[in-house]
Amino acid sequence: MPERGPEGSHPNGYHGASLPRLSGRYRGGVAELQNISLARGAPSLDIVAVDDLRVSADRAFERDPNAAFSYGTSAGHTALVAWLAKRHGVAPEQVVATNGSMQADAFLFQQAVGPGDIVVVEAPTYDRTLLALRNLGAEVLAIPLEADGIDVEALARALDAGARPRLAHIIPNFQNPAGYTLSLEKRQRLLELADEHDFLIFEDDPYVELRFAGAQLPTMLSLDEGRGRVVYASSFSKTVCPGIRVGYLVGSQELIGDIRKLATQTYISPSMVSQAIVAEFCESGALERSIETVKQALRERRDATCAALQEFIPEAQFVVPEGGYFLWVDLPEGADVAGLEAASKERGVTFVKGTDFLLEGGENSFRIAYSGVTPELIREAVERVASAWRELAGAAA
Ligand SMILES: Cc1ncc(COP(=O)(O)O)c(C=O)c1O
Repeated sequence: MPERGPEGSHPNGYHGASLPRLSGRYRGGVAELQNISLARGAPSLDIVAVDDLRVSADRAFERDPNAAFSYGTSAGHTALVAWLAKRHGVAPEQVVATNGSMQADAFLFQQAVGPGDIVVVEAPTYDRTLLALRNLGAEVLAIPLEADGIDVEALARALDAGARPRLAHIIPNFQNPAGYTLSLEKRQRLLELADEHDFLIFEDDPYVELRFAGAQLPTMLSLDEGRGRVVYASSFSKTVCPGIRVGYLVGSQELIGDIRKLATQTYISPSMVSQAIVAEFCESGALERSIETVKQALRERRDATCAALQEFIPEAQFVVPEGGYFLWVDLPEGADVAGLEAASKERGVTFVKGTDFLLEGGENSFRIAYSGVTPELIREAVERVASAWRELAGAAA
């Protein structure tokens, strides 16, 4: 797994739609193509609610400057924690707000997973989860992901065969990297398995609010009804902006109490300035507006991605996502996606290879992040990937 910058960012620093257009400019007689990133799991600047954020900051700083500018506690900004607790129907003591959900994940892994512990992951899964678990010395049990979520019967067989996981990491909605969603039946079955075999479900859910088709499903946290089998993480990175770095965990009071202690030792408190702004953003109704804007853009970007794939790479197989940022493309068996990545990069287009999200396999697959690119540029990007693909196919013939 190669090291990259923040999620999906590319070492070349491509910035998708936020870069000035270079198309049509000539330097030394060579036309420069605009770089287009299908690699970044981030919203483009045009769908970030900058004005509402500015108003929220002004109000937060005026109303309660002490809460914004003091250290605070490791629990997080009091008003934000209260808002999150209400949203999830839990006590404030069951919430810890962190610097992005990545920090929440790291605290949870640090608290709950030791060297040699078995952790179930979906295959494919978020590459940073794999990296974090590997760094902790955990033993990763990768269970295949299907279009309706993790293969729960394959997990049941592994459990029956003696696997004793400590934790199962599940991304239930519009999964990163596949864009698939866990069905209600599988959510219920996972809870049964967790009960039967005594493991914790880590429900990593940053995309939950971004459904633009189909019916919303209940979280496993809510289905668990307070039995403490589920610890839940989410984030404002995908609905507001990643630069704000605000995420959170919800779990049993005991586990969250331990994580708060860990957080105190780590950083005294998370960024109170950021959390004060987010608290105001949530309470004022700006969050719901932002979610609508982002969803509308994502739907258009998803549609553009699917249409371009069908037009330019008809042999590509994919499941149409009902929300979120990502789409997983399978090319025919034997396709050389590593070669395609290099050839596409020469044409100014980046994406992430399937192998980055798996311990093994994925050589003929890749992830498209359509979140940061306008529909016109998505079409152009897919056309360029298709031309690279045809060139490679021609060379192999
Ligand atoms: C499944 C998953 N978990 C966690 C994160 C981290 O998000 P944050 O920006 O809140 O740290 C991401 C970001 O892409 C993600 O896809």
